[in-house]
Amino acid sequence: MGEKAYYITTPIYYVTDVPHIGNAYTTIVSDVLARHQRQRGRKVVFATGTDENAIKVAEAAQQAGMPPKEFVDKLAAAFVDVWESLHIKYDAFIRTTEPRHVAVVQRAFEILRDRGDVYKGVYEGWYCVSDETFFRESEVVDGKCPNAECRKPVQWVQEENYYFKLSAYQDRLLEHIERNPDFLQPEFRKNEVVSFIKQGLQDISITRANRGWGIPVPGEPDKVIYVWFDALLNYITIAGWESPGFDEIWPADIQLMGKDIFVRFHCTFWPAMLMGLGVELPKVLFGHGWWSIEGEKISKSKGNAISPAALAADLAAMSGATNGVAIDVIRYFVMREAPFGVDADFSRDSLKNRFNSDLANDLGNLLNRTLSMLDRYMDRVIPEPVGVALDLRSIAEATHKEVESAFDEFQFSRALEAIWQLVGAGNRYLEDQAPWRLHKEGKKAELATVLYSTLETARMVTVMIAPFMPEAAREMWRQLGIPEPLEEQTWADAGAWGRLAPGTRAGAAEPIFPRIEDKPRKEGRVEEQKPEPQEHLTHDEFKKMELRIAEIVAAERHPNADKLLKLTVSLGDERRTIVAGIAQWYEPDALVGKKIVLLANLAPATIRGVQSQGMLLAADVDGQAVILTPDSDVPSGAKIR
Ligand code: MSP
Repeated sequence: MGEKAYYITTPIYYVTDVPHIGNAYTTIVSDVLARHQRQRGRKVVFATGTDENAIKVAEAAQQAGMPPKEFVDKLAAAFVDVWESLHIKYDAFIRTTEPRHVAVVQRAFEILRDRGDVYKGVYEGWYCVSDETFFRESEVVDGKCPNAECRKPVQWVQEENYYFKLSAYQDRLLEHIERNPDFLQPEFRKNEVVSFIKQGLQDISITRANRGWGIPVPGEPDKVIYVWFDALLNYITIAGWESPGFDEIWPADIQLMGKDIFVRFHCTFWPAMLMGLGVELPKVLFGHGWWSIEGEKISKSKGNAISPAALAADLAAMSGATNGVAIDVIRYFVMREAPFGVDADFSRDSLKNRFNSDLANDLGNLLNRTLSMLDRYMDRVIPEPVGVALDLRSIAEATHKEVESAFDEFQFSRALEAIWQLVGAGNRYLEDQAPWRLHKEGKKAELATVLYSTLETARMVTVMIAPFMPEAAREMWRQLGIPEPLEEQTWADAGAWGRLAPGTRAGAAEPIFPRIEDKPRKEGRVEEQKPEPQEHLTHDEFKKMELRIAEIVAAERHPNADKLLKLTVSLGDERRTIVAGIAQWYEPDALVGKKIVLLANLAPATIRGVQSQGMLLAADVDGQAVILTPDSDVPSGAKIR
């Protein structure tokens, strides 16, 4: 037998519409996990697909005025495109209208019928087409679907149907859950499942009258197989059930899905079906939370069912990042924003904040500043370190272990938190070691160690974040100038300090995550008033001063004066040059990226041949200048009042 693959599944999506950010989530998470496991050297089978036999799919086709087959072909192709645009790299894609799947479903039906697990009866009860779910009278709420996420009117159904003996599996299910503590995750949802099962399971109708769409019951073409019985089996169709090699894929290592389809379908019906078929159960079923957008439930009727690609396009336009990087930022955001399992909200403000602080500032700085210094001081050639930055190295190695264990527990946000602690440590190390000073003092060996160590940290970070942001990581890798392809880097490489080869030439430093700047608010008119002859400043006089936050985007020595620096500052939508008398205390490189307080409406003055358009504020500490910076992240251009 070959090596058992690490098998990851997403739910298969109803092809009623292309995915929005909410239902793209499961696929993004699965892709991140798949990429990480590939780095760990596992043979991965990551499967996704489309659920095409549902009544609601046929209804959507009718609304679109298209024959159902044509409609599902079109939408399935649209899903493939969307996944590609989101950098989803699956290994298998299934459509439930494929003959291989139809055969599996009919065969499973027959096996269960032969075993007596499937029997004929008359179904009389409620059905929700939107959820494709049967409900008991007692579950229906005012004639509507009891699922809080749905609440659409239910239909009364009276048909001769086949039933699956779900009730017979109640005790075996409870026993399996108890014996396998990792089977259902997260823990709080497991409790929900246990109480649902303990309430008593009823047999479930698994056929419907054939209205021209669905998989026919073998030998009874007036009936089709219930879409959930059909859809759940996709997971074993992909693995090649009843064919050689099935055991090399099945059981699934993890099946991911949202909370709405966790309890009833994936944790009850599905394992019972597998037990009936004599197939091993999946190792883990994980029910994640739901996303809202700007505090509201995502729904087509609210018009907020935004596609991830549209969100990325906005982000790219706001920041100037490439589209591919912006897609990765959306991936990063959903993985970082909430612990995996709980509900979360997507807001443009929080996306922007995370972009600016985690990516533009923290990650961007680590790579960008170091590469620009490498360019200036060493002609971009990675130096041979003389010593080892012991602290940084031990943080990097500990991070590697922590990320691995976070992945093993499916705690992706914790993995990212750990990586960002390393990014922070790298940035602090740079500040503490002040390579610009080492350069000035001619301390070549120390400078080599500092730049090497920071770049080595950036290399390890790049490999670790590649599963989350594959394209951005590739760009970072390119700038680091490492010749071996990023895709070939293993998880062990990510944790092995010292792999960065001295002597290779890095690329030019180009910002991958350009900061999103806010447009400055409209200025109020400054009233002209005669100053009163007194020592205190009047309020109006104070109001005349336009104090604003500015970011230093470039810094160099003044060409004609030792004590002066020439700074380029950004006020959001405007750039200015200012001259500041701080050269004795600040190295130009250490200033780039810092936010300062600027007196913006000081009359321009030419200082030693350079025009200065404003004044930087600094405290005078025993004759030494200490520049003022805001206490937390404030957008460039913000007014100080
Ligand atoms: N076709 C069934 C699944 C069959 S699996 C054998 C189905 N499809 S779906 O397209 O409606 O939903 C697919 C996934 O998207 C589910 O995991 C669901 O939880 C998820 N989500 C739908 N809206 C969501 C959010 N707003 N937030 C997070 N996940 C969301 O159900």
